[in-house]
Amino acid sequence: MTTIGLIGSGNIGSTVARLAVAAGHDVVLSNSRGPQTLEELVAELGPKARAATPAEAAAAGDIVVVTVPLHAYSAIPAGPVAGKVLIDTNNYYPERDGVIAELEDGSTTTGELVQRHFAGASVVKALNNIWFEHLRTLARPSGAPDRSALPIAGDDTAAKKAVAGFLDGIGYDTVDIGPLAENRRTQRDTPVYVAPYGAYGVPVGTPAGAQAVRDLVAAA
Ligand SMILES: NC(=O)c1ccc[n+]([C@@H]2O[C@H](COP(=O)([O-])OP(=O)(O)OC[C@H]3O[C@@H](n4cnc5c(N)ncnc54)[C@H](OP(=O)(O)O)[C@@H]3O)[C@@H](O)[C@H]2O)c1
Repeated sequence: MTTIGLIGSGNIGSTVARLAVAAGHDVVLSNSRGPQTLEELVAELGPKARAATPAEAAAAGDIVVVTVPLHAYSAIPAGPVAGKVLIDTNNYYPERDGVIAELEDGSTTTGELVQRHFAGASVVKALNNIWFEHLRTLARPSGAPDRSALPIAGDDTAAKKAVAGFLDGIGYDTVDIGPLAENRRTQRDTPVYVAPYGAYGVPVGTPAGAQAVRDLVAAA
């Protein structure tokens, strides 16, 4: 089993942590306010979970999940993540994150921005296109007929394999959509963003399998 280091323990971070612990992984949680603010979540997750600083969570993780408001990624120290597989779940909401010119003009993508900051890590864009409640409710064992699939994008084949293995363990098939730059096909307001997995605000999701995800990504 793998240790998952979480930088950000909000809606997505805590959901990934719950699924990861259920799959037998250890998790190290972190946020901006300090480990003491995560005591309740750690208590709920049990002995496979602990809280730490972002640098400690990064150092401990075999896979590190950066899941913060996009405006915050550049404040996270990149050094401890060097050499690691990094899952980038982050999306761009200018009303929350401020206007980022390179994203507005389409000259880059959120995944590439995150990769530029965490230059020594192997960034895989994943888990950004599903609402956290659907992520929780749609997890299914391998081979289930109503299993959903999630797109992954990245430049490092071995890193994508590690992420696909992790996502398989927590309940999801994956669709490899190619290099990191292809994450433009899964960003906000693309066909595969949120809606295929059910109605936003209704926690019970609707499964979206690999072929549906492939078709929606191709349509972007
Ligand atoms: N919500 C969804 O369903 C969903 C789905 C897919 C993707 N996403 C994307 O995934 C990211 C996280 O979304 P979310 O809904 O989970 O956000 P959230 O509930 O607001 O949680 C954000 C987490 O990031 C932490 N954080 C903020 N600044 C930090 C810093 N400098 N260092 C370390 N941790 C920091 C926060 O800690 P504090 O509370 O201590 O500040 C909090 O634990 C966003 O980019 C979002 O667009 C969200």
